[in-house]
Formats: sequence, structure tokens, C-alpha cells
Amino acid sequence: MNKVAVYPGTFDPITYGHLDILEMGCKIFDEIVICIAERAEKNTLFTLEERVSTVSYIVKDFDNVSVEPLTGLLVKRMEMGGIKFILRGLRAVSDFDYELQMALTNSELDSEIVTVFLPGKHEHLFLSSSIVREVAIHGGDVSKFVPEYVKHKIELKLRGKTCL
Ligand code: COA
Repeated sequence: MNKVAVYPGTFDPITYGHLDILEMGCKIFDEIVICIAERAEKNTLFTLEERVSTVSYIVKDFDNVSVEPLTGLLVKRMEMGGIKFILRGLRAVSDFDYELQMALTNSELDSEIVTVFLPGKHEHLFLSSSIVREVAIHGGDVSKFVPEYVKHKIELKLRGKTCL
């Protein structure tokens, strides 16, 4: 039977840190569904549609990875697809409380759901999407943090363009 996992997140924008987790996840799971959460409360730089389109482009060469928007509860989406595993990255101890809270809540909502945590690569442990946004907004070079395509999308967005 195929082992399928969801990899949920905001991906505003996707970074090399997320891609590390995805690559490692592909060694464990037969299929990964990246679920891009709307997160209206987060006041994201990119719209949900823009984030879906950017991530879809970035992962286009992964055979076993698909991308979709997530507007409701993750657990509901998983139940609809019969998916039992959630893939999440852990960068530092500071991630732990929040991640544990989410993992426990999800397994409380559906006891069959298992969250699998993978450690980020050491060179990207400091990375977050808001750090990337912050550097870019102030004119810094984000090439070490995100693929060239994402860098281009950030530049367009900061010039007020739509990035679909
Ligand atoms: N490398 C680099 N950065 C990483 C990372 C990695 N491996 N893993 C996480 N991050 C960063 C993200 O870039 C993001 O940075 P920012 O806050 O500076 O923008 C931050 O860590 C948060 O990570 P993210 O993966 O985007 O998680 P989130 O906390 O925004 O997302 C959801 C949480 C989307 C998974 C959760 O809200 C969810 O499942 N929502 C759907 C609704 C639902 O079911 N809610 C109940 C959940 S219990």
C-alpha cells in the first residue's frame, strides 16, 4: 500500500529549508501532498493562489509530490483522502512547543493521524519565511535562502505585481 503524507504549511514563500524537509520526506513516503494553508490571519505577502502556483513550479520535477490549497481543517482533508501521515520539519527547540501542540491537536481530532518530524539541515536551521521577506523588503540578496524563481517572484511582488 502506498504511504502518503501531507506536508502542510503557509509557504510564504517556500524556502530551501522547506525543500530540505520535502526531499527527506520523499525518501520515507511514496507520495506527498503539499497543502498550502490560507492563513488569512497571517497577513501573508503572497495570496493563496500565488503560493500554490509558486510551490507547484518549484516542485514540478518531483514525480511523487502534488500541491493544493487548504482552506479548512487539515484533518478533514486527510480523512477525505484516507491520508494518515503529516510531515513537519523541526528546526530548533523553539519550534517544539508549537509543533507538539499541533501534532497532539490533530491526533485528538483523528486518533489515526501520525505526525512525522524531520530535522532541518543545519545550514538552514535559522531560516524562516519571514526572515526571507524581511531581507528582501530591505533590498538584501535572498539567493542563499530561496530558489531563483522564488527570488524573482518576491521581487515582482514587492514591485506590486501579481505573481500567478
Ligand atoms: N525551513 C524553513 N522555514 C520553516 C521550515 C523549514 N523546514 N519549517 C517551518 N518554517 C517556517 C515557515 O517559513 C514559517 O515562517 P514564518 O512564520 O516566518 O512565516 C514558520 O516556520 C511557520 O511554519 P509553517 O510551516 O508555515 O507553519 P505554519 O505555522 O504557518 O502552518 C499549519 C501551520 C498551516 C500547518 C496549520 O496552521 C494548519 O494545519 N492549518 C490548517 C487548519 C488546521 O487544521 N488547523 C488546526 C491545526 S492543529
